[in-house]
Amino acid sequence: MDSTRRITALEAVPEESTFVFRVVDTDDDANEVEEAILVRQDGRLECWLNYCQHFTHIKLDKGTGAAMRNGEIICENHGAYFEADSGVCTFGPCEGAYLTALEVAVDDGDVYLTDEGYDLLGPGPIPTDEVDRASSSNVEF
Ligand code: FES
Repeated sequence: MDSTRRITALEAVPEESTFVFRVVDTDDDANEVEEAILVRQDGRLECWLNYCQHFTHIKLDKGTGAAMRNGEIICENHGAYFEADSGVCTFGPCEGAYLTALEVAVDDGDVYLTDEGYDLLGPGPIPTDEVDRASSSNVEF
C-alpha cells in the first residue's frame, strides 16, 4: 500500500462513532477540501463523505465523532438516521437518500484511502471556525 494514502490505524476507528479526515476530490478544479468519515460496523469498515443529505453542508461528525444508535449514524441537526453499512437514510427529512461512499482498504492493521477520485490530506476535521459554526446551527428547518 502507498504510505502517503494511509489514513490511520484501524484501532483508531471507534466502534460506536466515527473517525473524521480530510480529502480533496481530484475531479474538482476548485480543489475544495472535504471531510470524510470512517465507521466500523459488525467487523466491516465503511467510508462516507461527512455530509448530511438533507442540507449537504451539514456535517455528521462535527469533530468529536458522530452520534450513532443501533448501527446508524445520526445527523444531530434534524434527526436523520443513516445506516452505517449502506449509507441509506432510513428516517428523517432525506429518507431514501444515500451518503457518498469512498473506497478504503485495510492492510496490516492500517486503513488506506484507495479511492482514485480523492487525494488524502490527513486526519481530523477542516480547521475553520466558519464551517464549524454553520454545521452546528439548528435554525435551517
Ligand atoms: S441537516 Fe441533517 S437532518 Fe437536516
